[in-house]
Amino acid sequence: MSVNMTAMRMTRLTTTLAIVFGTFVSLSPFGATHARGVASPARQDSALPDAPGRAVVEKVCTTCHGLDYLVPSERTAPVWRDTIDLMRGYGAEATDEQWKTITDYIIANLAHLSVSKATPEDIGLVLGVDEKIAQGVVAYRDKQGGFKTIEDLKKAPDLEPAKVDALKARLIFE
Ligand code: HEC
Repeated sequence: MSVNMTAMRMTRLTTTLAIVFGTFVSLSPFGATHARGVASPARQDSALPDAPGRAVVEKVCTTCHGLDYLVPSERTAPVWRDTIDLMRGYGAEATDEQWKTITDYIIANLAHLSVSKATPEDIGLVLGVDEKIAQGVVAYRDKQGGFKTIEDLKKAPDLEPAKVDALKARLIFE
């Protein structure tokens, strides 16, 4: 009797787990990587901007859910860092080098930037400038008492105003 009860409980647990994990498994692991150069699936191929590191993100971030979990998103750079840590906690697997590639790719290409609070590293990644220029932007920001508008940011040393304008949708001023 007690053996039967245990068996029943196990069956129910297995079913529950199957439902929970089935949701992820159905979303084609490694789809985008394998689809390279072949036809389709267009949705995954076009989901992420073409930039260095995309293939690693497509490989590591599609084993449990689709790339549609990644875009579109209004997550800021620190929120993305936390989200990536959360995925590692869920069991996402990559080498340390790949984690850096993934984090840099996501921040450079997807993250929103709180311009008045962001670290030099995140400013560099989002604005696509080197560390020295990013630090110059932060020094200028501190001297000015922050950036209130995109026009303020465009006056920072060594930034190309047109490049800043192109990123407008991802820049947060407050
Ligand atoms: C081991 C499985 C697994 C892997 C691999 C994985 N995720 Fe997730 N991801 C999850 C689970 C579980 C959730 C939460 C499910 C839900 O909210 O529907 C989630 C949710 C998310 C969300 C939504 C979070 C939110 O706050 O709503 C984002 C964004 C995300 N993942 C990004 C990524 C990125 C980027 C990668 C690659 C680094 C990745 N995931 C790899 C399991 C995984």
